[in-house]
Amino acid sequence: MLNRTTKLAVIKFVKDFLLASRVLQIFQPLSGLFLFFYNFNKLTSWVHKHKKDTLLLNDFYRPVRNYDDRLKSFNAIVEHYKLTEIPVYYLEFGVAQGHSFKWWLEHCKHKNSKFIGFDTFEGLPEDWGLFQKGDMNYGIPNFNDTRSQCIKGIFQDTLNPYLFSESGNMKGVKKIIHMDADIFSATLFVLMQIYPYLEKGDIIMFDEFNVYGHEFQAYRLFTECSYMSLKLIAAQNNFYHAAFEVA
Ligand SMILES: C[S@@+](CC[C@H](N)C(=O)[O-])C[C@H]1O[C@@H](n2cnc3c(N)ncnc32)[C@H](O)[C@@H]1O
Repeated sequence: MLNRTTKLAVIKFVKDFLLASRVLQIFQPLSGLFLFFYNFNKLTSWVHKHKKDTLLLNDFYRPVRNYDDRLKSFNAIVEHYKLTEIPVYYLEFGVAQGHSFKWWLEHCKHKNSKFIGFDTFEGLPEDWGLFQKGDMNYGIPNFNDTRSQCIKGIFQDTLNPYLFSESGNMKGVKKIIHMDADIFSATLFVLMQIYPYLEKGDIIMFDEFNVYGHEFQAYRLFTECSYMSLKLIAAQNNFYHAAFEVA
């Protein structure tokens, strides 16, 4: 058996050789496929580990999806946590025309609730699947509700100044974080920045959770890097929509 020093020397030699020789670059054309296998395996393992964990509702497995069934999750969450009766701090990342934002505004009726919508309001800042940069450009929606505010710009510019100025007001109020930016970079950025402001009982929802290289990957890296424990509370459309509670 090799001792620890010899093992380290062998590993170091092999790594340096691979780096210097570039031999693994012959697999470069297959790297997308390897990445797909890796990420999809992570997703599959996660789904099968958690498919029976859900507190409120979960429709896994269903053969046909219906996007509007995310509303079943929304309703179950509002009812379970009695969100019509308490003030909430609703932060949505990815508002576009405002379909989900409007739903939450209409259902969380407490006069002291706050609803903040972050978006470029000029469309996606980068390509996402079949969508191209600039798609989903609808301008800033008007919600006609004084409890709501839209913050225009990329999250990477707008989120931290907002969190810094509002941290005192958010403390102790139930926060509902709605991740609907679709894109990996945007989702991971928001989760990492909002982490210090999250408190036990806050809710985080993902609108495209099971997209293996985007929201799921951001969720996975966030939970691995922050050690944050998130309890699954609702899932719809084979985990396309998934909601968690900060444990
Ligand atoms: C799928 S749409 C949101 C849909 C909306 N929640 C609904 O239910 O109707 C995604 C939105 O995320 C926004 N977005 C993605 N990445 C962003 C970023 N880094 N900064 C700001 N907005 C971003 C896009 O501009 C787009 O409007």
